[in-house]
Amino acid sequence: MRLVKLEEVEEIKPFDCGDTDLNGFLFEDAGYYFKEMIANTFIMEDDQITVAYFSLLNDKISQTTVDKNLWRKLRKAFPHRKHLGSYPAVKIGRLAVSIAYRGQGIGTELVSMVKQMLVNKSALSACRFLTVDAYKEALPFYVKNGFKTLVNTIDDDSHTIPMYYDLKGLLD
Ligand SMILES: CC(C)(COP(=O)(O)OP(=O)(O)OC[C@H]1O[C@@H](n2cnc3c(N)ncnc32)[C@H](O)[C@@H]1OP(=O)(O)O)[C@@H](O)C(=O)NCCC(=O)NCCS
Repeated sequence: MRLVKLEEVEEIKPFDCGDTDLNGFLFEDAGYYFKEMIANTFIMEDDQITVAYFSLLNDKISQTTVDKNLWRKLRKAFPHRKHLGSYPAVKIGRLAVSIAYRGQGIGTELVSMVKQMLVNKSALSACRFLTVDAYKEALPFYVKNGFKTLVNTIDDDSHTIPMYYDLKGLLD
């Protein structure tokens, strides 16, 4: 198995994660997102199929978009005098694992790898949080991987839940 950047792949191997939107993004949109510098996609493949993929883009957690009590909680990680109106983040735009490989630890492995990449000393730009708009079905997966919700109540009408992971924990 190997991990490659989308732009280094000659042809994307077949992929099915059971979700039409996530399957479609890989084949129809990921190339455009890369060219337009909106999101970078990484592919894990074996000799036959695409095993998993994820895409990353820059983000921020901002006071104006987070519920007051959660913002207060989040801000506690910083000394009072140093409080800012927003903190830098990187977002997992998409993450999907092939049905053939589901539940074998690959999603966890990829999330751990992204976390390590972001705290790597050679990283050019600072980012404190890893964020994701998690599919409701995938909430237990992200909780297991240390993410917390960024909302007080989960909206019935919304398909996704904003979540964050504090990368500082990896350095302490
Ligand atoms: C969510 C997803 C990325 C997880 O990848 P994975 O390689 O299957 O996950 P892992 O094997 O590393 O982790 C499994 C754990 O995550 C949780 N989990 C994974 N998928 C889950 C699901 N669909 N429903 C509930 N829990 C799930 C379980 O708690 C499981 O823990 P367990 O092994 O103790 O039972 C993958 O299942 C997937 O692609 N799902 C469809 C697309 C999707 O929902 N993507 C997320 C978009 S935000």
